[in-house]
Amino acid sequence: MTWLITGGAGYIGGHVVKAMLEAGRQVAVFDDLSSGRAERLPEGVPLIRGSVLDRAAVDRALREHGVTGVLHTAAKKQVGESVEQPFHYYRENLQGLQTVLEATAEAGVRRFLFSSSAAVYGMPDVDLVTEATPCAPLSPYGETKLAGEWLVKAAGVAHGISTVSLRYFNVAGAADPALSDDGVLNLVPMVFQRLTAGEAPRVFGADYPTPDGTCVRDYIHVSDIASAHVAAVERLTADPAGETSLTLNIGRGEGVSVREMLDVIGRVTGYDTTGEVGPRRAGDPARVVASAELIRKELGWGARYGVEEMVASAWDGWCARHPGARRAG
Ligand code: WQD
Repeated sequence: MTWLITGGAGYIGGHVVKAMLEAGRQVAVFDDLSSGRAERLPEGVPLIRGSVLDRAAVDRALREHGVTGVLHTAAKKQVGESVEQPFHYYRENLQGLQTVLEATAEAGVRRFLFSSSAAVYGMPDVDLVTEATPCAPLSPYGETKLAGEWLVKAAGVAHGISTVSLRYFNVAGAADPALSDDGVLNLVPMVFQRLTAGEAPRVFGADYPTPDGTCVRDYIHVSDIASAHVAAVERLTADPAGETSLTLNIGRGEGVSVREMLDVIGRVTGYDTTGEVGPRRAGDPARVVASAELIRKELGWGARYGVEEMVASAWDGWCARHPGARRAG
């Protein structure tokens, strides 16, 4: 049994590849290397370089590698960019998904996992976000993920494919410095960048209705994201009838504020992370924290790592990629 991992040379996909191999699964990677790196893949993992929009290339990959399940992690993931380039995001994320799903259905492959996002919820006005919390995405990025879930579900029903969509919350950390995130698009790497450039980290708003006034999120270690995929694969493998149709949050169920993250980053890096409070960033919800109950119930999965491990491993990756960077003090 071989699992095709689209986007497997990316930050999250690379961790999924690693966890799948450690679980004894056979994998092949399909990636256009637009943001992925072939060096993320261990030796011996087949890499098919191609676009998810190229139906013939996807058909070939499914056939030539005897694929029996697909993990579709390939996507564009920058919220701000999606606002500026909606056509690009709908094409890559939705048309790309449709192409891979159609190829999957026609090849007779009966297991499919889709990488979704907490961005489907938008500004949830609840303490803990459950999968039943209404979805109201605030960006074309979030829209492509929500519409993607609908398409995955509908294709599963129509073609007898078992499906799981996983809604990632705020991913951070690395299993290995070589697998770490090269993007500087989220809180942790953005703070590292400021600190190592001799600048104070920025806090986007400290007047939110939260205990310390800064935004609260559910940060989750990328290795935990990866182990949730392995648990989902076990579930999909155990269902040859194609009846599984699940949409699950992957979070820790614990809220951490920007200030609390800055404190952890200060302890790990040795820098003064007091931060400079600026205006709110447009579109930021005050609090987005997952309920992790459903995934525990359905897959028996729970997170293992905390924020210290996320920040420490992300810092190791940052230092490996920025040879001048080192612990302060
Ligand atoms: C976290 C918090 C910022 C940088 C995004 C996407 C979401 C998902 C994960 C893909 C916020 C604050 C940040 C800084 C700060 N992506 N912040 N200073 O916005 O919660 O979620 O990534 O699926 O869809 O929207 O993540 O890491 O950008 O921000 O104060 O220098 O940190 O305001 O409250 P976000 P983030």
